[in-house]
Amino acid sequence: MAYDSRIMRAALEQYQADLTARKAERQRRIDALCQQVPRLAEIQRELRGTAGRAVAAAFRKGVDPVPAIQALSRQNLALQRERAELLVEAGAPYDLMNSEPACPSCRDTGFTQEGPCACLMAYYTKEQNRELSKMLDLGSQSFDTFQFSYYDDAPWRELGISPRQAMEKIYDECRDYAMEFGPHSGNLLFSGAPGLGKTFLSACIAREVSGAGFSVVYDTAGHIFAQFEREKFGREAPYEEDAGTEVNRYLNCDLLILDDLGSEMTTIFVQSVLYQIVNGRLLAGRQTIISTNLRPQEIGERYSPAILSRIQGSYQIKVFFGRDIRGRR
Ligand SMILES: Nc1ncnc2c1ncn2[C@@H]1O[C@H](COP(=O)(O)OP(=O)(O)OP(=O)(O)O)[C@@H](O)[C@H]1O
Ligand SMILES: [Mg+2]
Ligand SMILES: [Zn+2]
Repeated sequence: MAYDSRIMRAALEQYQADLTARKAERQRRIDALCQQVPRLAEIQRELRGTAGRAVAAAFRKGVDPVPAIQALSRQNLALQRERAELLVEAGAPYDLMNSEPACPSCRDTGFTQEGPCACLMAYYTKEQNRELSKMLDLGSQSFDTFQFSYYDDAPWRELGISPRQAMEKIYDECRDYAMEFGPHSGNLLFSGAPGLGKTFLSACIAREVSGAGFSVVYDTAGHIFAQFEREKFGREAPYEEDAGTEVNRYLNCDLLILDDLGSEMTTIFVQSVLYQIVNGRLLAGRQTIISTNLRPQEIGERYSPAILSRIQGSYQIKVFFGRDIRGRR
């Protein structure tokens, strides 16, 4: 799985901040309780201070330390039990003063030997969704809110099926795609006239796949190409987000959603960037969804036959048709 370093940095920052805040809050509570119940403070000192003294003495004298160890652990257990009872009496959780980590898997470090821990990934997903929400309406656009009633039920003579039937099929396929997303999901091309739900369905998929812990980047073709251009030809706005990082996000994320292909000014540079994105991501086994008002044929003419050939070979092509929803909502 690929992690977006910018998102991961933000997630880690938030993770650490929450951890620090939780610790401070816990300490405040403990201090207040120790004031209220002085015996608690005493137990704390005993557990810390006397612990090990007898055992160390046994080692020093060269006598068998086992009895001392056993006595010590008996004493510790008794103190812990007393502490738990006092805490419950005071209305606090019995384990408030045990310094157990909130996440046993990673002991609150955020990482296990396999990589980022699930507890950190929850932060990652949240950060990523915040990022996606700048561009997509993740709040209201989901598989559950997708309406079929906007698509006409009457068959189109030249196609033999109705927009509704076609959308039901596309919807099912996109849903399966999102639910089963993984390194072998393949790629999608949404092709069709404006206002038919291409961006809506992209948002549905982005939301699911991001929720499953994958790195997802959504952006419009125009903005993506502009970032590549900025990286290549220097920066006009040096205080903006580093373009190098942006470009890496497009190339390396698990799922890239490139929206509105064809709406940008197509130059030779744009043609070569699109090739780099499509071809590079295919070779790396990373999944891509492209939306466009262009027909597949037009992609070949406008960009290059090499790009069209790759799309036809490795993308499932979904053709959207019907009456524009935008004006009718
Ligand atoms: N199935 C749907 N249910 C409810 N609302 C929808 C549906 N499809 C589209 N819409 C709404 O219609 C409007 C247009 O949809 P969307 O932006 O997805 O179109 P599009 O196919 O991406 O168009 P364009 O090619 O112009 O980008 C949006 O406001 C969207 O929320
Ligand atoms: Mg759109
Ligand atoms: Zn963890």
